[in-house]
Amino acid sequence: VFVNMSLTADGKIATANRVISSFGSERDQTHLLELRTRADAVMCGARTADMNEINLGPGPLQYRRRRLRLGLAEHNVRVVVSGSGSLDPQAHLFQHRFSPIVILTTERAGRARRQRLAAVADVVRVCGRREIDWPGTLNWLRKTLGVQSLLCEGGGELNGALFQADLVDELHLTFCPLIFGGREAPTIAEGLGASRLADAARFRLVSRRTRGAELFAVYRRAGSTGRGGD
Ligand SMILES: NC(=O)c1ccc[n+]([C@@H]2O[C@H](COP(=O)([O-])OP(=O)(O)OC[C@H]3O[C@@H](n4cnc5c(N)ncnc54)[C@H](OP(=O)(O)O)[C@@H]3O)[C@@H](O)[C@H]2O)c1
Repeated sequence: VFVNMSLTADGKIATANRVISSFGSERDQTHLLELRTRADAVMCGARTADMNEINLGPGPLQYRRRRLRLGLAEHNVRVVVSGSGSLDPQAHLFQHRFSPIVILTTERAGRARRQRLAAVADVVRVCGRREIDWPGTLNWLRKTLGVQSLLCEGGGELNGALFQADLVDELHLTFCPLIFGGREAPTIAEGLGASRLADAARFRLVSRRTRGAELFAVYRRAGSTGRGGD
């Protein structure tokens, strides 16, 4: 599982009013497409899918060719997470039909919501009662759709759940020279978060490079989080 996010120098991924959430350079956009060439599936949370004109696809021909050279399918599977099923069936993503769209939800989504989403997606999978069972879900994605590499592109709430479950192997961050401020502006990991240092997801920096005004950093998981200890 790898996560890719752009963030401001004060760690925000969108403004507090959520109006601005895309602020990286063209180079950052290229970086996003390059990372997608390594992924069997690209995933995002319901609000990211609702609020942005994104299709989670591999992009232009050169990237699709690269996928084929790497032995991957020409188009990646697309996954959206919506525990309560509030995802908008009119979202831009659903207008682009080129690869399976999978919605991961829970029993909190009533029958009507699930049916509404089933009409626009290829699969709507109930992955838990109130919370997504992540290990079970990753297993299911691997077994049924051949997803061995999963790229998560936010938002903060979805990332937070993956960090909490200690399932993020690699983290790609693009630091942009902006300060958004704002207590309500989301960061790369929302949700309840850690309350003790021992609960922090830990990473080690494996590479960093500056291109133009942006810093591209890659981190890998640094083993156990030490959860359960002091
Ligand atoms: N700068 C960047 O790189 C970047 C990248 C992505 C997004 N963004 C921005 O970040 C903001 C969105 O972030 P966000 O944290 O508010 O939203 P998000 O994670 O995209 O979506 C949150 C919604 O997704 C579902 N969800 C997420 N994790 C879940 C889990 N573990 N189990 C069940 N459902 C889950 C829930 O949907 P239900 O309500 O249906 O249950 C939840 O309300 C937007 O402004 C977006 O544009 C920025």
